Amino acid sequence: MASSTGSGVSSAVNAADDGDLAALAEAVGRRRNFAIISHPDAGKTTLTEKLLLYGGAIQQAGAVKAKGEQRKVTSDWMELEKQRGISITSTVLQFDYAGSTVNLLDTPGHQDFSEDTYRTLAAADNAVMLEDAAKGLEPQTRKLFEVCRMRRIPIFTFINKMDRPGREPLELLDEIESELDLACWPVNWPIGSGDRFRGVIDRRSREVVLFERAERGRQSEEKVLSVEEARSSGLVEPELLDAALEELELLEGAGAELDLELVHAGELSPVFFGSAMTNFGVRPFLDAFLELAQQPTPRQTSAGPVDPVAPGFSGFVFKLQANMDPRHRDRVAFVRVCSGRFEKDMAVQHARTGRTIRLSRPQKLFGQDREVVEDAYPGDVIGLNNPGMFAIGDTLYLGPKVEYEGIPCFSPEIFSWLRNPNPSAFKNFRKGVNELREEGAVQILYDTDESKRDPILAAVGQLQLEVVQYRLENEYGVQTRLEPLGFQVARWVSGGWPALESVGRIFNCKTVRDCWNRPVLLFKNEWNLNQLHEDHPDLELSAVAPVVSGVEPIAL
Ligand code: G4P
Repeated sequence: MASSTGSGVSSAVNAADDGDLAALAEAVGRRRNFAIISHPDAGKTTLTEKLLLYGGAIQQAGAVKAKGEQRKVTSDWMELEKQRGISITSTVLQFDYAGSTVNLLDTPGHQDFSEDTYRTLAAADNAVMLEDAAKGLEPQTRKLFEVCRMRRIPIFTFINKMDRPGREPLELLDEIESELDLACWPVNWPIGSGDRFRGVIDRRSREVVLFERAERGRQSEEKVLSVEEARSSGLVEPELLDAALEELELLEGAGAELDLELVHAGELSPVFFGSAMTNFGVRPFLDAFLELAQQPTPRQTSAGPVDPVAPGFSGFVFKLQANMDPRHRDRVAFVRVCSGRFEKDMAVQHARTGRTIRLSRPQKLFGQDREVVEDAYPGDVIGLNNPGMFAIGDTLYLGPKVEYEGIPCFSPEIFSWLRNPNPSAFKNFRKGVNELREEGAVQILYDTDESKRDPILAAVGQLQLEVVQYRLENEYGVQTRLEPLGFQVARWVSGGWPALESVGRIFNCKTVRDCWNRPVLLFKNEWNLNQLHEDHPDLELSAVAPVVSGVEPIAL
């Protein structure tokens, strides 16, 4: 449990000798952290399960009793998570594989909870963009891609479902390059597709990796051969192999190189082909990903970038979750470790309040399981018990004060008054609304007319609003009514109230305040927004709320 102590901070900084720093550097060098971005149904759950299987993580976590139940047991909580959305754990899955410690930051499956995904991406060093080979780019993937681009996160592309009839690989790459303006570098190339998908050719080693279907949930049998061996093996049709080699020649002709600097700047995407369901191409992907992905990198703070291999621990809260374990009504703050070594029982500084907090029961969460962690390193995520003291974006640190860049709010698309028909329940209503806002379950806006006190819920998806209502009823005992406002677009006014006042009266939009008392304009549609751009080209608007730090938000 996190609790306040009176102990000073300066004495708490780790005495870091060279040996400690060398061990820290080794731990950082070994870590790779990533989140998967995809449209629902592209196969994120399936790929996650296969990756866990390779990492041996499923057995390690004790989630599986018998081998044959592997898929069933792991997918159970994932499925539940999908159905219940944010009220179920969405955590980090850690496993060791081939000398690396891999942190897979899990994100909610349903697109209505993409705000959660946005925040998780703030804690990720790499992203895997998963595409269905038959569908190519889909709306949710594009949206999440934009978030990655904004943060310049390296993007690795996995083209999934190659075992089914799909679009031409070259066409899929072309789509990514032209529509996302993201250059691609296929690390491997598929041999055949649909029921004639035989394997991939590794572009750098020229090795042919052939797969044989295995029982569901098991690792597929795989053979790594030279081109000549593959040709004489009888395991692959020569015309399929030749076609794949020809296409590879075409790619080589285009002349691009696998430039790791460009990959790490988010400008060049290594691309992989496979089928998560049949387990084709997952192992080659994982191996190359771990080789090419960036290790935890320096992160921006108010005092400049902080190196992960710095002696003092620091990290930030990127996600809050209440009632992960309904039996205990607990609240957990997820902290991404950014620098130094984190140790259990550490007394750290809380940047926003200036308080000292002893972290005596930090947890590692794995699906439904938790264990107390003794230590953690940059790139890792720890869960802290949160008796209401942590907010999203908060920095914890040792040593000289640092504050990590906050996590921006993204433009909501659904707006609704939240009415409390029962005045005697107002206290609980207020508590619930404030706590769910702190948790980031929903954004809260207020009318500029202060006599209209009811909050406006602003969300990315309808389900998000329903979960808020459900939780208010179940966790706070208040029944509420939603009254939709007919708006679909929100924009923050970059220059604040003075900028807004300087343009005079604005038509076809409603002005509201966010919880930092900043003006937000709500529009019925993009057309009305464009109209405003035309009428007032100097009024700067932003789809992303600027980050605020050091001030308390307006509570209901
Ligand atoms: P999501 O988390 O991204 O929403 O996707 P999920 O893994 O749940 O996969 C969505 C559907 O696509 C599932 O089928 C899954 O089996 C299938 N799928 C995933 N990867 C592949 C693949 O590589 N090839 C093929 N052919 N299918 C794939 P479902 O019918 O919805 O569920 P289930 O009956 O298979 O459990």
